Amino acid sequence: MALQVTPLDNVGVEISGFDITRPIDEALAAELVALWNEHGILLFRGQDVNPQNQIAFSRIFGELAMHPLAATTSQEYPELFTLVNEPEKEKFMTARYNGRDMVNKLDWHMDLHYTGRPNRGALLRAVVCASEDGLTGFGDLAKAYDALDEETRQLIANIEVTYAFSMQRRHMRYVDLRGYEPGTYSPKKPSDIGFPNFPEVAYPAVVTHPVTGRKVLEICEQFLERIVAPHRVGLCNDEAVDLLQRLVEHTRKSEFHYFHQWQPGDMVLWDNWRAMHCATGTRPGVQRVIHRTTIMGDATLGRVVDS
Ligand SMILES: [Fe+2]
Repeated sequence: MALQVTPLDNVGVEISGFDITRPIDEALAAELVALWNEHGILLFRGQDVNPQNQIAFSRIFGELAMHPLAATTSQEYPELFTLVNEPEKEKFMTARYNGRDMVNKLDWHMDLHYTGRPNRGALLRAVVCASEDGLTGFGDLAKAYDALDEETRQLIANIEVTYAFSMQRRHMRYVDLRGYEPGTYSPKKPSDIGFPNFPEVAYPAVVTHPVTGRKVLEICEQFLERIVAPHRVGLCNDEAVDLLQRLVEHTRKSEFHYFHQWQPGDMVLWDNWRAMHCATGTRPGVQRVIHRTTIMGDATLGRVVDS
């Protein structure tokens, strides 16, 4: 059966005519990889997914990463990263947004962006879907670049932007802090949850995708810090801050977004070198289990800022 490709809201596509329990030959694998490269965000529905076929399917798109936190992976399937809402853990991931406690709400980001070596992509499968909320948003930063006016493209062609890893959301400069209050147990610094002290990293504001050659607007609000040496492109510091604010607002436009409401049997695969993602979170106590596989990739897109 041939694959059918149906556009999702605004960005990404749904692929139908695919069954993860059937053998995947080379021609079908090549077609899936080409669709991933073309659209960046792929949704599959109604799949009978188990750990083995999720891992095998993900391998079509590249070598898989083992998650660095052993506690979050299963011994049996080290390629599988399990995200579970558990009362003991979720208190650390709870914060208040406009008077409501939310668990695991995450701003727009790209995974491992703060290391300079983001993974190529990832696949999520909802094992237990949240009964309410729990949406995952995807934002296409190649389309966001394409939609910029020529003057802005020229202005950002030769600038670098930095990202500074932080555990405290109120230390992040470009996230929307209105109505936000940290939770009682929100970590204060990376070592509180066993994370290293990540140095600041810089990226070109426009990254050429290593595989597809498309230009990607390398702006996502989480951890975004500053423009490196703005005077070199004729900007004062105030103009540099305004420019980043304007670019962040551009990435927030719904025309670049798809928000997925999970149903059993859904899988979403995205290109982490092109698409940002976010999580709307759930209310405390809502059951949710996600299985994730991570496709490594072998490009370094950012550089550590040492001085
Ligand atoms: Fe993420």
